Amino acid sequence: MDYAATGQEALSRIAGADDLDTLEALRVEFLGKQGSISGLLKTLGKLDPEERKVEGPKIHALRESVTEALASRKDVLETAALDARLASETIDLSLPAPAAPRGVVHPISQVMDELAEVFADLGFAVATGPEIEDDWHNFTALNMPESHPARAMHDTFYFPDRNDAGREMLLRTHTSPVQVRTMLSQGAPLRIVAPGRVYRSDSDATHTPMFHQIEGLVIDKGIHLGHLKWTLEAFLKAFFERDDIVLRLRPSYFPFTEPSVEVDVGYANQGGRRVVGGSGDAPGHAWMEVLGCGMVNRHVIAAGGIDPDEWQGFAFGIGVDRLAMLKYGMDDLRAFFDGDVRWLSHYGFSALDVPTLSGGVGTPA
Ligand code: PHE
Repeated sequence: MDYAATGQEALSRIAGADDLDTLEALRVEFLGKQGSISGLLKTLGKLDPEERKVEGPKIHALRESVTEALASRKDVLETAALDARLASETIDLSLPAPAAPRGVVHPISQVMDELAEVFADLGFAVATGPEIEDDWHNFTALNMPESHPARAMHDTFYFPDRNDAGREMLLRTHTSPVQVRTMLSQGAPLRIVAPGRVYRSDSDATHTPMFHQIEGLVIDKGIHLGHLKWTLEAFLKAFFERDDIVLRLRPSYFPFTEPSVEVDVGYANQGGRRVVGGSGDAPGHAWMEVLGCGMVNRHVIAAGGIDPDEWQGFAFGIGVDRLAMLKYGMDDLRAFFDGDVRWLSHYGFSALDVPTLSGGVGTPA
């Protein structure tokens, strides 16, 4: 028998297959289990030896040529498919960069990162606590028992219901409860900062009902006011990236520190902008209060489960929003929380301005 016609037809159909699916269908048609050429091979078994000697090589040759044709057509089609994909997926690297990215980092977030960076360099770890607090952590443990007049000064937002322990629930009015939580959970010694949101029922150009603080707490042996002053000075110089920062320490009162100190920084009024640096008593200068601090009251250390006869420490609470205003020359606190995109694109930071001490913690525009 002559298989030339069968072979011709198969090869021409293979050559005409213009995609890989069609080619696969042809392979099954010819060489699959039920395929026509496979069928021919099966007939060999029924032939007598003499016929088989003649027919066998012809059928095998047919199968070989079809197999080869399928393989080389497959090669051609695969190369064409890859070329088409490469052509459709090219990027033109000579195109100009896309327009500036839309999103910006909010100045408060940026300043929080700057603060954490500066304090990390001074060996402080970051601690956190809940914004929904109970009155024990927010007041009592901080040496403000019920009926303490300082409680009234905090303009607290209370929740209607008490918690399971019967404690009144509130939005924390300062980050100081994190002092207590950290002493209780970690014990002494300690060196932490706790940045976060705090809430007071108060609103005008310099007060918003939600604002930001960063708490600092150091508990160790032999800690005194000199350590506190040095730490604050080192911190403010690094944060404002200036060496001429002058601090004024004023005696003050906080129930949770003794003695207590309020700290002002000197600034100059330059064309309506406040520029930090120099003594606030110099001509054209004034003082601005930036933080409260003091030596941790022994009642607070005891409430934190630590022996106040063995351990001492200092604590400070800084108004983050005010610090941001002072550093970046913003004049109304409320703009921080308006979500006005024009304000944000003016004062916001590029996501690539990651604060580092080597590169500078703040990157002025
Ligand atoms: N918690 C105080 C406030 O919000 C600030 C402060 C913190 C003062 C730590 C002393 C020590 O006003």
